[in-house]
Amino acid sequence: MSEDSPKFLMRSFGRVKSRKIKPQQASLFDTLLPSIEANPARVATLLASGRPVWLEIGFGGGEHLAAQAANHPNVDIIGCEPFLNGVGSALRHIDDGHLGNVSILAEDARPLLDSLPDASLERIFILFADPWPKARHNKRRFIQPETVATFARVLKPGGSVRFATDWADYADWALQRFLANADFDWTAQSQADWNTPPADHVTTRYETKGLGDCRPVFFDFYRK
Ligand SMILES: C[S@@+](CC[C@H](N)C(=O)[O-])C[C@H]1O[C@@H](n2cnc3c(N)ncnc32)[C@H](O)[C@@H]1O
Repeated sequence: MSEDSPKFLMRSFGRVKSRKIKPQQASLFDTLLPSIEANPARVATLLASGRPVWLEIGFGGGEHLAAQAANHPNVDIIGCEPFLNGVGSALRHIDDGHLGNVSILAEDARPLLDSLPDASLERIFILFADPWPKARHNKRRFIQPETVATFARVLKPGGSVRFATDWADYADWALQRFLANADFDWTAQSQADWNTPPADHVTTRYETKGLGDCRPVFFDFYRK
């Protein structure tokens, strides 16, 4: 498929596998993943349940996903991550925590996002997204006008997107694209509002690595 095709999705993630997945995690791909896979039928059931549904895009090792699920048992959380070693780690967290409110899609989040009905989600998290810092790679960033518009479509009024990064240029990039979308409000008043981790934030693995070029920033954008 060429980059000019309307269905072409520019790859926004890096490798999908690194080292060999540990045997205990590998077995969870067979024993746990099929029962919690975020396939269309399961997603439809979740959305019909009346419980709040949250989405985490690019959950990495799943530490944040699992902790939010444990902290919010009244919420169903869908996590999307194409990096299979991360999926294995997340499955172990879900299994260890006996978490019944997590669904996993081991793939690109964008087709799932596009398939969601309007006003179906309460929250979206995209934390320490791949920065693609070289200018010629910026087009691979997950945050684009189209993805922001899709977030606006699938969020309920009053719902929110949390975007975090430790790359200054990606922070500016994301802020510009969310502020350019009239469906979102950003209520931060001062630097402390974006430099301080929100009270309900759970530190992520990439965040602790500190690979970026600035302190972590946290933006909560609210759907009008
Ligand atoms: C830098 S890592 C951060 C992982 C995690 N959020 C953390 O903070 O530890 C970004 C992750 O986003 C994932 N990712 C990138 N594009 C994605 C997409 N289109 N759908 C789902 N996940 C994606 C990558 O595979 C990668 O694991």
